[in-house]
Amino acid sequence: MIAIAAQKYDSCPMEGFDETRVKKLLNAPMCSRVVMVISVGERDQKGIWGEQFRVPKSEVFFKI
Ligand SMILES: Cc1cc2nc3c(=O)[nH]c(=O)nc-3n(C[C@H](O)[C@H](O)[C@H](O)COP(=O)(O)O)c2cc1C
Repeated sequence: MIAIAAQKYDSCPMEGFDETRVKKLLNAPMCSRVVMVISVGERDQKGIWGEQFRVPKSEVFFKI
């Protein structure tokens, strides 16, 4: 997703999807696992419908 942002696109991770249908769509073996679907596209300036929640970066990023 960081690489996608570097290409000036936006993305959205989703865990809530029909894994069987995604595997059929991708012709992936039924024994495989699809852990996430990521949509990619160009941002619509009116595309944010609700208030966004962000955890403060200080709680996520740590210098090691
Ligand atoms: C690992 C992960 C899985 C997610 N799965 C879903 C999902 O299945 N359905 C959904 O509506 N949002 C899902 N989200 C949240 C969206 O990606 C998105 O962050 C959310 O709609 C809020 O939008 P915003 O990031 O612009 O605030 C997931 C987020 C993460 C990090």
